[in-house]
Amino acid sequence: MLAPMNDVLERLRAWKAETTVILGSGLGSLVEAGIDVAERIPHAQFTALPEPKVAGHGGEFVCGQLNGTKMLFSKGRVHLYEGHSARAVTATVRLLADVGIRRLILTNAAGSANPAFAPGDWMLLRDHLNLTGTSPLLGAPEFVDLTEVYSLAWGNQFLEAARTARISLHEGVYAGLLGPQYETPAEVRMLRTLGADAIGMSTVLEAIQARALGLEVAGFSCLTNWAAGMSGQPLSHAEVLTTGQTAAASFSRLLTAALP
Ligand code: HPA
Repeated sequence: MLAPMNDVLERLRAWKAETTVILGSGLGSLVEAGIDVAERIPHAQFTALPEPKVAGHGGEFVCGQLNGTKMLFSKGRVHLYEGHSARAVTATVRLLADVGIRRLILTNAAGSANPAFAPGDWMLLRDHLNLTGTSPLLGAPEFVDLTEVYSLAWGNQFLEAARTARISLHEGVYAGLLGPQYETPAEVRMLRTLGADAIGMSTVLEAIQARALGLEVAGFSCLTNWAAGMSGQPLSHAEVLTTGQTAAASFSRLLTAALP
């Protein structure tokens, strides 16, 4: 029998994790290696979370310990490009704040728009361009300060840990677009002019929602491919997924190295 709905919230609360990692496309394998799993709860058991548009593609929360530190992982997210609203896309973040999470690590797969950042590498988000045309704060106007969306101090800790563990970690600006199509070469040139180093279709709305709720945020892009027009090769979703799977292992090492 399924547990009553309020029970699942209590189970997340009772885990008393301080930090959540939201895992992007192809990065789910991160929780299959290197984490001691205590409990898994499907997103479908939470009435506050949107239903995935593709049946059987629902996500889950994983309560697990990384090197002895309790963390909560969230696998599988919904995107604007599936037809979800900005509120629906950020429901997980509100739920996490509600169960006591204070620090949020957002991960994503992104195309590299910076010739110095090769596919397979990771980039720490220092800032973002929200180019989705929407906001999770619509309808309840809150003039949230976004001077430091991604925590400078926390980001510095990750960079330091990466240096010590000899993991390549770039830093840059992430452009979040609506999708679902990849960009044209002209759009990529425009985005580079605007200051983008990485381009993707998630993360920015979750980061805005998290800051509105007072959470500390860190963001990481797994650079899965050269953005359109940067390499002369066409983009493929399969390439994005396989690069993500390989890079998940180095992110797992980075998380471990950066833990207190
Ligand atoms: N563009 C947008 N989103 C992406 C890309 C890209 O090149 N790669 C992975 N997600």
